[in-house]
Amino acid sequence: MEKHNLEMKDISIEFPGVKALDNVSFTTETGTAHALIGANGAGKSTLMKVLSGAYTHYTGDIFLDGHQVDIRSPKDAQNLGIQIVYQEVDTALVPNLTVGENIMLSETVNEMGRKQFISWNEIHRKATAILSSMNVHVPSKKLVSQLTLAEKQMVLIARSVSRQCRYLILDEPTAPLSHSETNELFRIVRELKNKNVGIIFISHRLPELFEICDAITVMRNGEFVIKEKIAISNPSRVVEQMLGQKLEEQFPKSNVIPGETIHEVIDLHDEEKIHQISMNVREGEIVGLAGLVGAGKTEICKALFGASKISSGEIRLRGKKLKISGPHDAVRHGIALVPEERRKEGILVEETVTSNLSAANLTVFTRLFGFLDFKGEKKKAKEIIGSLGIKTPSEETRVKNLSGGNQQKVAIGKWLVADADVYIFDEPTKGVDVGAKKDIFELIAGLAERRKGILYASCELSEIIGITDRVYVIYDGQVSKELVTSETKEEELLFYSTGGK
Ligand SMILES: Nc1ncnc2c1ncn2[C@@H]1O[C@H](COP(=O)(O)OP(=O)(O)OP(=O)(O)O)[C@@H](O)[C@H]1O
Ligand SMILES: [Mg+2]
Repeated sequence: MEKHNLEMKDISIEFPGVKALDNVSFTTETGTAHALIGANGAGKSTLMKVLSGAYTHYTGDIFLDGHQVDIRSPKDAQNLGIQIVYQEVDTALVPNLTVGENIMLSETVNEMGRKQFISWNEIHRKATAILSSMNVHVPSKKLVSQLTLAEKQMVLIARSVSRQCRYLILDEPTAPLSHSETNELFRIVRELKNKNVGIIFISHRLPELFEICDAITVMRNGEFVIKEKIAISNPSRVVEQMLGQKLEEQFPKSNVIPGETIHEVIDLHDEEKIHQISMNVREGEIVGLAGLVGAGKTEICKALFGASKISSGEIRLRGKKLKISGPHDAVRHGIALVPEERRKEGILVEETVTSNLSAANLTVFTRLFGFLDFKGEKKKAKEIIGSLGIKTPSEETRVKNLSGGNQQKVAIGKWLVADADVYIFDEPTKGVDVGAKKDIFELIAGLAERRKGILYASCELSEIIGITDRVYVIYDGQVSKELVTSETKEEELLFYSTGGK
């Protein structure tokens, strides 16, 4: 097969207060998977947005097979066979349309734009064919708003794959996917490689890059660091290249001795995804909710926060039974949730960093109208920006202009300002680079030192082992096992996570 190649040369771009890309060069070719890696805010998404026509104000040159091309709109990029699946999954789909309509959307406009009639049967038939060729089992007629994050991701990938593409950019495609969904995606990536498509693959999960990619380009602070064959690299070398230094031990040593039970759940049940969950958290204790994607961890976290309905069961705080009929009740009682779908549920992307970090904004999320201490909020916001290492040109930058990982940090930071008693984290490190993960772990350990009770839900079993004191393994909406972290290991967690008895 004839190889094609792509070259981005001396690409620079600025936004108010940031030089996001500084003379970056990037080259790749078809028939390969090329990893693009760098810390949160390094410029990966920006570089790929330039390539896919999302920005017009960059400088530098782009060549396809040696011919200079001018990419100044998504349409330009698509006409050149460049497709992208954006990191911000939720903004890329139309929630009130069906899966099929979303997949065929531009096709519909392109091919049928001028036609009087759109054949819905045809749309669903085509979309179903695409989905099933990818082994994705999502009904074409289902509304996108009813899909899980993982399903949305697969729909987006299906949409790109269904179009003519020579280069496919996947910006953190696996962040919301389960292990088996990731394998499915890898199967698709390999197939595309065989069909001579060039894949550009962004991920913070290093083992994945080493599994699926042929070459790697590392970026740091808006600059190109190195491009090399993956075969001659290794994970610790890559981490050093991206951070500019070696990574020390990720997990903080904690010697907090847990106190009294602070938060207790008895027989929580919702008729759907949550079955008779009982568990407790003590002061200063970090309790893991381990389980695979789809096990029901998110549903449990939401129920504890009053963000979803339960049909029976009790939630107690310091022995007192709580009535939680919505998030406002949870907040009032000092229970905080850092949700998994942060862009939708955890932050206000149109607002500034400070306003997101200010406790006043909790009212917006929770419709709580009470007394809040506005004093010193700005100062606190600055502290949080510092302690979490949030990379932002200023506190007044709008959150939507931060890189994906830095948006996550804002979502976490918000609750630190609010100062709750019980913190529930749902996959807090998703999309976060290895350096920033360490910051988040330290912060959580810091909360435990301040005698907070912490629930830590994650499918990353190594994190559960690294950060928690005790674990409830969740399988199919039930607690399948309770374990003391120091007496278990990843293999055992995996065993119970997959239904082992
Ligand atoms: N539209 C924009 N307006 C202002 N600043 C921006 C904009 N887009 C990106 N930036 C800034 O450019 C820098 C690079 O961001 P980018 O999103 O490319 O990072 P990234 O490498 O994709 O990070 P992550 O791993 O967190 O997704 C960041 O400092 C970000 O705040
Ligand atoms: Mg990004």
